[in-house]
Amino acid sequence: MGKTIIISNRLPVQLQISNGSITAVPSVGGLATGMKSVHSGGDSLWIGWSGLTDEEIPKELAPQIDKALAEHGSSKVNLSQEEVDGFYFGFSNRTIWPLFHYFLEYSEFELDSWNTYKNVNQKFADAVLASSDEEDTIWIHDYQLMLVPQMVRKQRPNIAIGFFLHIPFPSYEIFRTLPWREEVLEGLLGSDLIGFHTYDYERHFLSSVRRLLGLEVHFNEIDVSNRLVKVDSFPMGIDYKKFSTAAKNHGNNKASEQSDLQRRLNKHKESTPDAKFILSIDRLDYTKGIAKRLNAFEYFLKKYPEYKEKVRLIILAVPSRSNVPQYQLLKREVDELVGRINGELATVSWTPIWYFYRSLPFENLIDLYTSSDIAWLTPIRDGMNLVAKEYIATRTDKTGVLILSEMAGSANEMNEALLINPNNFEQISESLYRAINMPVEEQKERNSQLQKRLERYNVEKWANDFMTSLREQRELDAINISR
Ligand code: ADP
Ligand code: G6P
Repeated sequence: MGKTIIISNRLPVQLQISNGSITAVPSVGGLATGMKSVHSGGDSLWIGWSGLTDEEIPKELAPQIDKALAEHGSSKVNLSQEEVDGFYFGFSNRTIWPLFHYFLEYSEFELDSWNTYKNVNQKFADAVLASSDEEDTIWIHDYQLMLVPQMVRKQRPNIAIGFFLHIPFPSYEIFRTLPWREEVLEGLLGSDLIGFHTYDYERHFLSSVRRLLGLEVHFNEIDVSNRLVKVDSFPMGIDYKKFSTAAKNHGNNKASEQSDLQRRLNKHKESTPDAKFILSIDRLDYTKGIAKRLNAFEYFLKKYPEYKEKVRLIILAVPSRSNVPQYQLLKREVDELVGRINGELATVSWTPIWYFYRSLPFENLIDLYTSSDIAWLTPIRDGMNLVAKEYIATRTDKTGVLILSEMAGSANEMNEALLINPNNFEQISESLYRAINMPVEEQKERNSQLQKRLERYNVEKWANDFMTSLREQRELDAINISR
């Protein structure tokens, strides 16, 4: 049996250079945090971009960079600034990301970016080819690398290739607007197995394949010349144990072991014991519905003024893709909204919104999850949303209320949460009222069910299910070919 090669744009760590030395910081986002747990358990190799462009890497530091990545079982694909601009900030995040999240009006269709996307995908495929042989299993991830399966298949017709899409696959009516739609589908069909988070994404993909390529689809298998490609849904889980254990240990921490953030949170809890902490954690992304959520919070406080000084919204927004204009606009909008709402409603002893615009270490994420009475996650469209699952996993005493958008893939598995339509302003604010007033017994009942499910369908099971399915598909295909 050969090795497993994971390939994605983001590696588990991002490298930064300051004052001539290299630091590796953990990557943020569902793909990296989820796959990290899978990768750390085995002897896989992870190929991806280091986060630094060729121009940013001084020659003399190149060997150290390779060494730093090797410590994380990773190896890098070199990208120039021009490539990053066209491939990452361009086609991936100005065309595919908005289109696949139904933000059609944000999608830009530029030939140059598409060409760079193709060239960079070829670079990733070449890196895979250089590090693999026919015995290996290749697991390619996400929308940045949709052409890689076919590029690898061309050179290694018999190698096992799995592809997993971490974002939604849109309906045919949306997907068909992409000028290079056939090429993207053909790229993906180089795989033996294509996985999605939900059945709906799978269904949309199959419909596009049928209608745009005219291929025969038998249930969830596609006939591609002499091969069968299987398509299935695998809802991604979290490293449940990691989060629940961290939360348990956190509860046993002595005061001297607590973080500054935790001490601040405790201080506020002590001074206003009845007040509720409402938490939202997202990358600063227009798909996450942050601005609508802020407006709904203001609406809630105006409708129920008795909750002034009784609730506090903690918004943790992680900087993301800040070279893309839509993200810059959103940053400005969120800054202004937070400023305006705090300016209008704050009192001498109360600031309604605490807004952090940064990435925080794992320990601080646990501080926030465990200190918050309510998690309020209202994406307008989200492939999965792992934050919702992480929040529930940290509620070791089973209290806490999750309010979750039904447009998040995770809502399919989290029926016990308060599910809302993120465009229904009144409903979002009412969900807050309900969460604040939910009896503890009801909270515990809902969370017990959720925790049981999350513990069982964890990230390890997700990866095993995908790999088992890939293996089975290969065996089936081998039988079909030999007939
Ligand atoms: P997305 O993949 O779109 O960013 P998810 O909710 O699926 O959304 O995944 C986000 C991941 O990033 C989670 O695993 C979460 O723990 C992590 N994360 C989110 N915010 C922060 C932060 N401020 N600092 C560190 N990690 C974060
Ligand atoms: C989502 C995508 C990932 C991406 C992550 C962070 O989870 O599915 O592919 O890595 O967001 O975004 P970034 O652009 O920083 O990699």
